[in-house]
Amino acid sequence: MATTPTIAKAKTPAAKTDQTPESKSVPQVQVPGVSRREFLYYAWGASMALLLAQTGGWLIWFGLPRFREGEFGGVFSLAGSDLPILNNPPKDYPEGKFWLSNTDDGIAALYKVCTHLGCLFKWVGANDRFECPCHGSKFQKNGVYIEGPAPRSLDRFEITVVTNSGQQLVTNAAGDPVPVDSASVSQIRVNTGKRIKRDGKV
Ligand code: FES
Repeated sequence: MATTPTIAKAKTPAAKTDQTPESKSVPQVQVPGVSRREFLYYAWGASMALLLAQTGGWLIWFGLPRFREGEFGGVFSLAGSDLPILNNPPKDYPEGKFWLSNTDDGIAALYKVCTHLGCLFKWVGANDRFECPCHGSKFQKNGVYIEGPAPRSLDRFEITVVTNSGQQLVTNAAGDPVPVDSASVSQIRVNTGKRIKRDGKV
């Protein structure tokens, strides 16, 4: 009996499985980076650094002198020889807007603006006093009020008197003249950035 040849059944390829990229197992690669917590930490640190830098900048800005020496608003350094002779007429320093007076009361730097309405008063040698041309206020050589509509004596700038021995005498809070022997004065520093108003007509 003839045998029927058996036909080998061709192997069918295995049924295709779902091969979408999503289904492939992708190896997990750790990407270096920062976590949310780290990011916030760094942002906070950067903000603080910026704030400190700004604060430091402002401190330096305000700490530096804003006016140079020798310009109005800054310090004027005068030699002892620049001091007027005791009870002689005061010396005019137009760049610093002050009169330097030397009387029995001491040394004072008088702001050149009248305390009434701001006119520039003048030294009138014939009357040995300051007189304001606007409304007639008058002041003594040391800046003390005499008469007129001015509400107070002349304003003074803070001065530092350096003596030959190195002692430093500074104008007090009331702006009184600095009492010192003229012969012992080595240097006078007038701070035109520090104006002291007199308390009334004294
Ligand atoms: S402004 Fe000097 S008296 Fe008036």
